[in-house]
Amino acid sequence: MSHDQPPRPATAHRAHSLKGHVRLPGDKSISHRSMMFGGLASGQTRVTGLLEGEDVLRTADAMRAFGARIERTVGDDGGAEWVIDGVGNGALLEPKEPLDFGNAGTGARLVMGLAGTYDMETTFTGDASLSKRPMGRVLDPLRLMGVQVLQASPGDRMPITLRGPRFAAPITYRVPMASAQVKSAVLLAGLNTAGVTTVIEPVMTRDHTEKMLVGFGARLDVETDATGVRTIRIEGQGNLSGQRIAVPGDPSSAGFPLVAALLVPGSEVVIENVLMNPTRTGLILTLQEMGGDIEVLNPRQAGGEDVADLRVRGSHLRGVVVPPERAPSMIDEYPVLAVAASFAEGETVMDGLDELRVKESDRLAAVARGLEANGVDCTEGEASLTVRGRPGGKGLGGGTVATHLDHRIAMSFLVMGLAAEKAVSVDDTLMIATSFPEFMGLMADLGAEISDVETAR
Ligand code: S3P
Repeated sequence: MSHDQPPRPATAHRAHSLKGHVRLPGDKSISHRSMMFGGLASGQTRVTGLLEGEDVLRTADAMRAFGARIERTVGDDGGAEWVIDGVGNGALLEPKEPLDFGNAGTGARLVMGLAGTYDMETTFTGDASLSKRPMGRVLDPLRLMGVQVLQASPGDRMPITLRGPRFAAPITYRVPMASAQVKSAVLLAGLNTAGVTTVIEPVMTRDHTEKMLVGFGARLDVETDATGVRTIRIEGQGNLSGQRIAVPGDPSSAGFPLVAALLVPGSEVVIENVLMNPTRTGLILTLQEMGGDIEVLNPRQAGGEDVADLRVRGSHLRGVVVPPERAPSMIDEYPVLAVAASFAEGETVMDGLDELRVKESDRLAAVARGLEANGVDCTEGEASLTVRGRPGGKGLGGGTVATHLDHRIAMSFLVMGLAAEKAVSVDDTLMIATSFPEFMGLMADLGAEISDVETAR
């Protein structure tokens, strides 16, 4: 695993223009869920377009440890097709070893929900980044359902061992923070619980769990009141049956070539097959408000999701105030938005960023330090970031950014280096493989010059 290897720094140099078509790897959220729900459902699930990043492969290993059979095959079109023979809802086996989720918060937290209510012991471990992240947000509702936490590090951190009760109790749970992971963990715990488990979600977050579970045959319904509060009910112990899933391209990964193309003058890039679920499109909307030339082409439906291609051209950006209520729909995109803001005319204000403090790193601090190291004028608040941009990137760059085992910090600052006057270095790129293994090759195909240790100038 990458955290055992020595770090691999890289440096991004100013690009002339970026041109071409890119096809993104599959969406990480949907890929994780495909493995989990396919591994749980009765019968066979076939998945194309899966993100074959380390995070998702860890989830696949966990599902194998619960008894699912998962194989990578070659589909009729020559592309990879993952074939999953699931165990059946309620029939997960006790894993013989601790489950190592590496860097993946989504894998760890959702599987805690999926397996936590089983009358068996399951141990969860992860890398240095994941071991620092708070798990109490998932353990608290699980405790209410009768799950015992046999082992946890201080502050409910991993390694964690769970033991479910003989019969889990259904609960009604109001999610205290805007988190799709917490919502999903409770719903998945509800799958193995007699009766109806209810999740109240005051602020809507990505809804892949709800949509996909319905596709697998779960009895789940959602009511949204006049103020936007969602009540999600799931009836436990029903049958789930295997599905065919075509995973659309990841809009969070799209953010990197997208912002790069906006910032490098003269660029024109088409990003194909991007998931356009409205709970995920906050970055595109914000960049359009900043004056970004982003055309949405060929909008269509694929596998129950909105999908489109994006044509992006080099643009003059202007600072904006990003409404805090937009945060859940772009929560993973603030690092790359902060980079875009560094090149915009005027000030960009981002607020409502509390959740950024508990991502793969303290992303708010990591972004602010990275910006400062590269000459960007910014102010970090407790839950906010204000960036005063320099159009053309004049005077920007020249710094080395500490990535703190965070893939999105690494990719965001490499994007900065493509447009800044001076090169930008990051101290490690290994973690990029957790979510976007193709990043370096794909950016090079567009004309980006990113040198790593082996090709350093
Ligand atoms: C995810 C939810 C978000 C997001 C993460 C993926 C998911 O986390 O940051 O990358 O797939 O449910 P939170 O639920 O902690 O906001």
